[in-house]
Amino acid sequence: MTLFRGTVVDTPDDPFTGGVLRVEADGGLLVRAGEIVERGGFAELRARHAEEDVVDLTGGLLLPGFVDTHVHFPQVRAMGGLGMPLLDWLEQCALPEEARLADQPYAQAVAADFVSGLAQAGTTTALVFGAHFAPAVDALFTEAARVGLRVTGGLVVSDRLLRADLLTTPERAYEEGLALARRWHGVGRARYAVTPRFSLSCGDALLDACGSLLRDVPGAWFTSHVNENALEIATVAELFEGSVYVDTYDRHGLIGRNSVLAHNVHPTDDELQLLCRRGASIAHCPTSNAALGSGIFSLKRHVDAGVRVALGSDVGAGTGFSLLKEALQAYFLQQLLGADGQRLTPAHLLHLATSAGADALGLADQVGDLGVGKRFDAVWLRPRPGCTLDVALRTASGPEDALARAFALASPADVDSVWIDGRPIPTEHRYAGSVPREAVVPNPRR
Ligand code: GUN
Ligand code: ZN
Repeated sequence: MTLFRGTVVDTPDDPFTGGVLRVEADGGLLVRAGEIVERGGFAELRARHAEEDVVDLTGGLLLPGFVDTHVHFPQVRAMGGLGMPLLDWLEQCALPEEARLADQPYAQAVAADFVSGLAQAGTTTALVFGAHFAPAVDALFTEAARVGLRVTGGLVVSDRLLRADLLTTPERAYEEGLALARRWHGVGRARYAVTPRFSLSCGDALLDACGSLLRDVPGAWFTSHVNENALEIATVAELFEGSVYVDTYDRHGLIGRNSVLAHNVHPTDDELQLLCRRGASIAHCPTSNAALGSGIFSLKRHVDAGVRVALGSDVGAGTGFSLLKEALQAYFLQQLLGADGQRLTPAHLLHLATSAGADALGLADQVGDLGVGKRFDAVWLRPRPGCTLDVALRTASGPEDALARAFALASPADVDSVWIDGRPIPTEHRYAGSVPREAVVPNPRR
């Protein structure tokens, strides 16, 4: 067993329903075979477990590993495209890059960049939008398994209105999805997610094939996009003869407790009620919504309607892998909404970045907080001595204030260590030292 010592902060009880931040200022977590078996003050735990190894994480903050509920694997090299609304950005920026993943060595290099990017940011669990090519999705799962990340993901499918090399058929989508699920679903920490890109690029027959696949793979997840952008929503309404967006998925049995829909910036009240009734979750992606000018997400309407919400980085429309940054952007937006905004404390932000995501992904019995019985998936924020965040943490009035300062100032550079199931996972930069040529050159767009 190992005894971890540090300032432990987490949110086992939902702050949106009255829960408060749980803090052990000088805490101890006793971990056996990856599971937290005791938790309390360090001195008291040490007195009872004098023989165990101690990992000293004092200074900084020990937090649950972050849970990213919406992030695109093939877009890690497509970040930073500014000045375009969604459909232009897809055509000019995202989809040309996604098409490159037909080349398997390229897909493998991108998978390594992607998994490394998540780990560096302190993300230990993610619901990943895969690629349009089955071998590239294999590359993602292979790399996630090698590093140890908890990944739910799948083959992205579309059968209209995108460039031809990204299109499939309902039959092929089902067969390739089933084969991938047989290879990966429930293997180690991997799970399969049925992933139509969005209703705009998926006809009813393809969505129906997705519904069949979801039924035929017990425990599989469903993810897609919804209500992100005005032109997208109008086009979907036209394509589906006036249907509201959520219904285009719901009529194929795709909306339930295992469903996570990204964005939902412009929902109707009926859609919110339906999402609540079905128990589906929304991945709120605040930097992406701002970067693409998609609109202003009403967290309050979701909370009032009882719809579950967690955070997604939405890399590559989002501006990085850090859920600390997403939480800060979510906070900024709610502040700017004034009376229409949802008041967010540091506890809310941590909840959105950790336990809310675990709940959305059906993993709340395993991860999302650092309580007894949970897996030790954790991130240690420990800034370089003397940097601004270090000064801020040292001069904070207490752990809650320190947490607020971390959300204001921290970046992946401040992630010292990350554990999954009690095992440290590598967070060093992939290209530090020697830079493999093949890894940096072959992006023909540049
Ligand atoms: N809708 C369909 N595809 C995408 C995507 O890749 N990113 C975002 N933000 N929205 C989408
Ligand atoms: Zn997305």
